[in-house]
Amino acid sequence: MTAKLINGREIAAGIRQEIAAGVEIRRQQGLRPPGLAVVLVGADQASQIYVRNKRNACEQAGILSMSYDLPADTSQEALEALVDELNDNPAVDGILVQLPLPSHLDGDPILVKIKPDKDVDGFHPYNLGRLVQRRPELRPCTPAGIIALLDSIDTPYTGQHAVIVGASNIVGRPMSMELLLRGATTTVTHRFTPDLGKFVRDADIVIAAAGKPDLVKGEWIKPGATVIDVGINRMPDGSLNGDVEFELAAERAAYITPVPGGVGPMTIAMLLQNTLYAANELHKE
Ligand code: GUN
Repeated sequence: MTAKLINGREIAAGIRQEIAAGVEIRRQQGLRPPGLAVVLVGADQASQIYVRNKRNACEQAGILSMSYDLPADTSQEALEALVDELNDNPAVDGILVQLPLPSHLDGDPILVKIKPDKDVDGFHPYNLGRLVQRRPELRPCTPAGIIALLDSIDTPYTGQHAVIVGASNIVGRPMSMELLLRGATTTVTHRFTPDLGKFVRDADIVIAAAGKPDLVKGEWIKPGATVIDVGINRMPDGSLNGDVEFELAAERAAYITPVPGGVGPMTIAMLLQNTLYAANELHKE
């Protein structure tokens, strides 16, 4: 392997320490701790693990974590009523409704109902619109975490071609806006892109976020490129795989993220950062 690993666990741990220090400063000033309400509907196993990790990370940083575990048959009205209540609760700086929701629930009206200044996931149209217009405030966590990884290796951005594989609302689309904001020439590929390899071969920065194991072939990677793998694919043998053919890609890339231990820990660090930001800047007492 020739690529250097970008250690998301280590970088996220540093950010979480800074957040803990920020929370401690609030305490010394006599201010309440930042509060994050985490809403989980149903018992999807992967979601349960993500939510547990988010709650543990809050507690370690001194952020008050408020848990709302609702049964799988929760109605749209009941979920919307909970969001209304959390919007009005002054102890709550951030509201996170874990996705995906059970299929009988419609997520869009829920995400729009969350007050934009409590939208620590950055999924509300207001926050996405601000990012599009180059005035981001609460930024979607995974793309923001990837920017922190790219900053950690002094990525120059301008003059670079960034190719994003996958056009989801959570990762691909906001990622394109973050990279454009920093001056990269940005291409978003998706399921209807013919000849994906043609685009990836030209990329200085590859962001793989399609959720398909080994979709991005190692031989496509331009020598010296930076490869960020957002995929978390559970394989039949129980192991986790990214969206990139890791071994072959690592022979060609200059930098690559591992799965697990790359992007995943950064998403949580950015969630905490958004929560502290909301408490300090958007909910001043
Ligand atoms: N499901 C997968 N990723 C995320 C995320 O970042 N936030 C929420 N709320 N749900 C998710």
